[in-house]
Amino acid sequence: MPEEKVIIFDTTLRDGEQSPGASLSINEKLEIARQLAVLGVDVIEAGFPVSSPTQFEATKLIAEQLTGPVIAGLARASKGDIEAAGKAIAPAKKRRIHTFIATSPVHMKHKLKKKPDEVLKMAVEAVKCCREFVDDIEFSPEDACRSEMPFLIEILAAVIEAGATTLNIPDTVGYILPYEYGRIIAQLKSDVPGIDKCIISTHCHNDLGMAVANSLTGVRNGARQVECTINGLGERAGNAALEEIVMAIHTRADFFSSQSGSQVRTNIKTTEIHRTSRLVSQLTGFVIQPNKAIVGANAFAHEAGVHVDGILKERTTYEIMKPETIGLGGSRMVLGRHTGRAGFVDRCKHLGFKLTEAEIKHAYERFVEIADKKKEIFDEDLAVLINDEIRIVERTYELQYLHVACGTGTLPTASVKMRVGDEVKTAAACGDGPVDAAYEAIRQATGQSPKLKNYSIRAVTGGKEALGEATVGIIDDGRTFVGRGISTDIIESSAKAYIDAINRMVAAKNKGDQPEVKVEL
Ligand code: KIV
Ligand code: ZN
Repeated sequence: MPEEKVIIFDTTLRDGEQSPGASLSINEKLEIARQLAVLGVDVIEAGFPVSSPTQFEATKLIAEQLTGPVIAGLARASKGDIEAAGKAIAPAKKRRIHTFIATSPVHMKHKLKKKPDEVLKMAVEAVKCCREFVDDIEFSPEDACRSEMPFLIEILAAVIEAGATTLNIPDTVGYILPYEYGRIIAQLKSDVPGIDKCIISTHCHNDLGMAVANSLTGVRNGARQVECTINGLGERAGNAALEEIVMAIHTRADFFSSQSGSQVRTNIKTTEIHRTSRLVSQLTGFVIQPNKAIVGANAFAHEAGVHVDGILKERTTYEIMKPETIGLGGSRMVLGRHTGRAGFVDRCKHLGFKLTEAEIKHAYERFVEIADKKKEIFDEDLAVLINDEIRIVERTYELQYLHVACGTGTLPTASVKMRVGDEVKTAAACGDGPVDAAYEAIRQATGQSPKLKNYSIRAVTGGKEALGEATVGIIDDGRTFVGRGISTDIIESSAKAYIDAINRMVAAKNKGDQPEVKVEL
């Protein structure tokens, strides 16, 4: 059967990063971009370059370093935005500018304070301006799904004429239902002059929980690009989740074969889905709910007796996808305290990590430390440990000793010894619980008292010796810093996560990083 490709446009680093609290450093963005390339996404929307110097630098760095996917930069329909995007993506081998302007009556009247004919003129000028930098131009009529159809058709026809090559149809506020979205895509496909030369794209938000269903209905009606994010990250309730879109197309290939009789497919290497999901969760600090489709911890767990019985008799009774397809549970290779450096390096390579000598040295030291306490180290443990090492920031503060005392009817107390720059400081404090007491002691030792925004802890793998991974978000001067810590002792991982977040905050201040100014879309 002939094949038709659905382009996977990943916007984790742009729309995903707009989620409140999901701020990533430039190196973390690069790390995610590299993994997205391994995953096989076709387009990476690397950022919104005009919005801040950090966004500009991150987009430029990704454009310089990545050779596979198209690198896209977002720009409002204005010369300044388009120039910034054009400059940021200039080093990329394959580059795209994604420009947008709102077209719904409510946005035009209240946000833009412009009449439809002015908006149309701005859209056309923006696309023409993009042509000075690139041939690959995407146009989005923001809030398309609440726009009037005749105006949508008119503006899309005009931007095609001006040179747009991809037409994205955003459901900006997550308002539309699948049946309606399908009809919009079908009508645009049939009524917009010149649209047959362009790719129609979906961009659906999840406010009513419809983002994936809407995107797939778009594909069913002729869209050949889907904009999505890893783990469904994004503004408010998020965007369509890449892993769900890809696995739906993969699993229900029968349903998605097009009317012309072609088979619809994506280029995604599905076995990289799980790893990518974990990396994004780790770096953003957004914990994945256990029952999340495809990548949640329970997505492939069968507990009910009748299900287990069925699975044992015939896997397909209760399982529509194999865990191995998303990169789970293939070989459960176990390392331990007797694994030498060579075995460790070999396993890291097998897992796809490309480490520098210095990173290997640090990671191996940590591995030995953990292997001493935890007999079996699984691939998932190793991945967490390495991701923890390679995102090291300048460590102004380091935990050298932690002692916590707590129990029923006693006041939890903690004492810490910490390296603070070149000095060693000790502090002791009590709190509402052991973690609270440890955090108070850390605040006293470091002299830093950022506001704690969120805290979570999860077991990386099962069993009583499982590594505990703590994730902490702190707020300072309106900016969020996410820290993580791992240990077989959950109080220690909590303390390390807090110190990691404080180190990130201090490193950003030392670098003179300015808080990102939120630019109104
Ligand atoms: O949701 C939206 O409308 C967007 C646009 C910038 C494409 O993210
Ligand atoms: Zn969006």
